[in-house]
Amino acid sequence: MNNYLTFPISAIILISYFVSFILVKNKKISPVVQCRFWNIILLISFLISGMLGLVLAVFIDLKLSIMWYRQLLSLHVKTGTVMALVSIFHLFWHLPYYLSLIKKKK
Ligand code: HEM
Repeated sequence: MNNYLTFPISAIILISYFVSFILVKNKKISPVVQCRFWNIILLISFLISGMLGLVLAVFIDLKLSIMWYRQLLSLHVKTGTVMALVSIFHLFWHLPYYLSLIKKKK
């Protein structure tokens, strides 16, 4: 039975985000440092999950057998969970930009 540790990974990410939020509120770190930190996490999780996902898709389509398939799939899903959650923070940070696009169209 697979276990992708979705709940523990999500808890770690949400708690870490909350800690970074408190650090910014208490002026221990600047919003720029907070943003840079989460952007780096987003980049690393994308490079692992996204690239691994593409490689797996190509190998599956070409019907090539992949060594350590289950382990790579597990890494893909776990880093994909990180990527998807951090993407949500990212989206909220840049929400004014998307809202301005909608407003401009009107
Ligand atoms: C970034 C682009 C992504 C690509 C190109 C991609 C590609 C793939 C591929 C090729 C598979 C294997 C399908 C198969 O075995 O037939 C897969 C499985 C899976 N992916 Fe992704 N994926 C991406 C992002 C994500 C994200 C963000 C998540 C979030 C957690 C995710 C979760 C999963 C899950 C749950 C499975 C099924 C695992 C299983 O069969 O046990 N993927 N993905």
